[in-house]
Amino acid sequence: MKSVLNFAHRGASGYCPENTMAAFRRSIELGATGIETDVQMTSDGQLVLIHDESLKRTAGSSRLVKDVTLEELQQLDAGSWFDPAFEGERVPTLRELLELAAPTSFVINLELKNGIIQYEGLEEAVIEEVRRFGMSDRIIISSFNHYSLVKCKHLAPEIRTGILYMEGLYEPWEYAARVGAEALHAYYYAVIPEWVAQAAERGIAYHPFTVNDADVMRKLIDAGVAGIITDYPDRLAELLHDAGT
Ligand code: G3P
Ligand code: MG
Repeated sequence: MKSVLNFAHRGASGYCPENTMAAFRRSIELGATGIETDVQMTSDGQLVLIHDESLKRTAGSSRLVKDVTLEELQQLDAGSWFDPAFEGERVPTLRELLELAAPTSFVINLELKNGIIQYEGLEEAVIEEVRRFGMSDRIIISSFNHYSLVKCKHLAPEIRTGILYMEGLYEPWEYAARVGAEALHAYYYAVIPEWVAQAAERGIAYHPFTVNDADVMRKLIDAGVAGIITDYPDRLAELLHDAGT
């Protein structure tokens, strides 16, 4: 059986506050082989890792990421909302994550959060940072904004891209070819087992999200997905270990 990538969704977000260095470090300890994270840009053009456009839910401020400087953002506590034990965790920069991942063999899935807010120069800045670390072969850029994926592929043909989608795309492998993407990052309900093989025949990998149930993981592995994005990488690591992959 071929190996299946184990992507920790927003880091090990089942156990730690999402998209924090604590969550990323924990995913390494739990047996993940990849990390999925969400990339946005501050008002002074710095790349930061946070899911929501608003800081409300995870950092307790009513401002938007796009309206604060990195210095302002780093004053905020991004850990306490999850558990007081994580007080003092900050919203990390992309650079901090790449510094952590560079010495490992981790594959990093950078989800560009530009579906709602269009960050001027986001694609260029992310690609520049990835190249700076020499990590192009271990990065997958994904987005619900498929225009942005086409732009990334144009700017950096050597970096893989993944199409994020929630519902039934018609012949998604054909669409992936049009967008120039190597992977389909589908909400797991939208993954039809027969399609996984059809996509694989054309060199397109399925990396479904966000799968936390072991039975669903098993079905997707049997269907031949190339990776799974999960909040609980330890559950997937255990399954993969038992399956001998
Ligand atoms: O990249 C997979 C998944 O993270 C997409 O949805 O909302 O969790 O970023 P979301
Ligand atoms: Mg995401």
